[in-house]
Amino acid sequence: MTDDAPAKKEARRSHSRSAPEAANLGKKGPAERSSVPGARVAVSGIKGTKDVLPEEAGSWQRLEAAARATFELYGYRELRAPVIEPTELFEKGTGQTSDIVTKEMYTFVDKGGRSVTLRPEYTPSVARAIIEHRLDLRAEPMRYYYMGPMFRYDKPQKGRYRQFHQVDVEVFGEKDAAADAELIEMAHTLLGRLGILGTETLVNSVGDRTCRPVYLKALRAAARAKQAELCPDCRRKVETNPLRIFDCKVERCREVAATFPSILDFLCQECRAHFQDLLGYLDVLGIAYRVEPRLVRGLDYYTKTTFEVVSGALGAQNALLGGGRYDDMMKDFGGPDLPATGFAMGMERVLSVAALPADQKKFLYLAYLGEEAKRAGLELARFFRQNGVECLVEFKDRGMKAHFGRASKLEAAWVLIVGGDELRKGRFGLKDMATGRQVEGTRGELLAAVRAG
Ligand code: HAM
Repeated sequence: MTDDAPAKKEARRSHSRSAPEAANLGKKGPAERSSVPGARVAVSGIKGTKDVLPEEAGSWQRLEAAARATFELYGYRELRAPVIEPTELFEKGTGQTSDIVTKEMYTFVDKGGRSVTLRPEYTPSVARAIIEHRLDLRAEPMRYYYMGPMFRYDKPQKGRYRQFHQVDVEVFGEKDAAADAELIEMAHTLLGRLGILGTETLVNSVGDRTCRPVYLKALRAAARAKQAELCPDCRRKVETNPLRIFDCKVERCREVAATFPSILDFLCQECRAHFQDLLGYLDVLGIAYRVEPRLVRGLDYYTKTTFEVVSGALGAQNALLGGGRYDDMMKDFGGPDLPATGFAMGMERVLSVAALPADQKKFLYLAYLGEEAKRAGLELARFFRQNGVECLVEFKDRGMKAHFGRASKLEAAWVLIVGGDELRKGRFGLKDMATGRQVEGTRGELLAAVRAG
């Protein structure tokens, strides 16, 4: 392959280019998955998965850095759990009646005969880790964050992947609605740092084990009356968990569900007061919201607060993030009775609407002529890198003109010239590619020039 092979040209050094969002999105053949027209590979990636190419990686890194910096300001610390977990963790946590557990898990039996699952979400893993390591016995606050891949076997489409990435945040031991409000405010702080505007915050309460059974009875009765109008999946949900009908994406089911009773009319006194507190704290924090009584969210564990931040710029899959309170999970897992609340943000979705400034990376291209200069160049590159200057040396026999052609194609900020003359004198040439100005000096003098530029 020559230096100018198109795929290489595309991938190399284009720090400032925006990502081709449509690339690799669950389409059929290898040619369609590639960002290069007509490209074919013998083995293509799995449908619904996505390669993050070098020109996109900078945005991912900036999102990760912004999330980390924001969460640490609020006292959160990173907790990294495995990608693979026992299947029963999600059956118990995410819930037997959720779409995730019934339809979407990557579950298989490992060589030891144990059923394992690639995590579809992170929340149950954090609860498990707290119990397993008795983090509840430590003095520090139980506030954790994490960023990483999740796996759901859903139908891929724009904004919905089979391997996707979440920024996840969880708080344990706080039953006060102020903790929920602070989480929502923290999510907005991060969205603000990412330049994401025009979002809407939806909030609801799904009650608790005192009031929800009463609501479920009323909901089931209403759903039974309209059973004939529901899709087969929802007809099954009428008996298993009618709350899950609200998660259905079928238009007719949505219309029917809109006529069902509202959970807010069934909240017990404690849940009602908690919800009123939440709204009051959001007002204190200056967060605008809309109460959405049908926001029950697709997971079985929620109690009291649920919320989502949606964006009109996203299309059908419009939730940038979603979360809520899950006060029963810890005790249901056999751990301490600790209330909990949290949210997860979809990184692909956030990146598709974030206004991240282009990466302004500057680097030095080292142009050498001949074996002796190559050796000196190796050492010089090491010197510049040790002093914090990004330096690229390509080990190809090129003439000076070809070196400059290549450096300019790659948009190098500087070219360092190492030839026979330069070696003899111990002084090298440095060309500033933006101004065209060339100076000569020792490596120390040229380092100072680069730093000044
Ligand atoms: P979730 O609503 O299932 O909640 O997912 C959270 C976010 O992950 C969604 O709002 C969306 O941005 C993103 N997301 C979900 N599925 C996909 C997908 N297939 N492709 C791309 N992005 C996706 C949870 O996962 C809960 N664990 C949140 C939570 C934390 N609740 C309490 N603590």
